[in-house]
Amino acid sequence: MIDFHTHILPAVDDGSRNLEQTKELLHQAYEQGVRHILATPHFYADRDSAGHFLKKREESFNEVKGLQKKEDWIPEIRTAAEVYYFPGIGKADVLPKLCMEGSRLILLELPFAQWTSGMYRDVEHIIDRQKLTVMLAHVERYYEFQKDKRVWRDMFELPLYAQINAGSFLRHSKRSFALKFIKAGHQVLLGSDCHNPEVRPSNLKAGRDVISKKLGDNVLEEIDTRGRLLWEDAK
Ligand SMILES: [Fe+2]
Repeated sequence: MIDFHTHILPAVDDGSRNLEQTKELLHQAYEQGVRHILATPHFYADRDSAGHFLKKREESFNEVKGLQKKEDWIPEIRTAAEVYYFPGIGKADVLPKLCMEGSRLILLELPFAQWTSGMYRDVEHIIDRQKLTVMLAHVERYYEFQKDKRVWRDMFELPLYAQINAGSFLRHSKRSFALKFIKAGHQVLLGSDCHNPEVRPSNLKAGRDVISKKLGDNVLEEIDTRGRLLWEDAK
């Protein structure tokens, strides 16, 4: 099992506060069968420089590597970022540095507001001009803001991956949307978006169980194969 969206790195964003919380989150993940984790701390271009962010992320990741040396059960972790949208991001040269290590996969968070044609063009540029692979973070969280569905529809015509949070399969308000979205044939990947062991824990398995029960194991296998290929492609 691969978790494509986590805030498990200690003291780098609003996720894990310290190494102790990180260890607990990793343990929760391990117990559920997660063996590969993408660490995706928030990156906000208006608040931070890429240089400062990458240094902070490296220091934090080094702490976790220390833990990995002591504990043999810790899943494989790769670094990336959850990059928040800004106008002009399509042409921003900072993106390749924020991709999953060894890959051109970028986790992009879009505004929780009506999407505009400018946002669409930016995402299109990231894909067509920068030749990056886009994974949109927690797509189910934007839908309620799309009173006008045109940009939403166009966005998902683009060749991109749509990440869904496992927790959304557990919440009545989001579950039917998330299941329908998968059934519609989108290129879905799963993440826990875990932030801390108590309130926003690692919960990938519980979400997967809902998919398997409602849509069948073969649907889950398709999602896993997609994820595995992306993970193995990054070397
Ligand atoms: Fe996140």
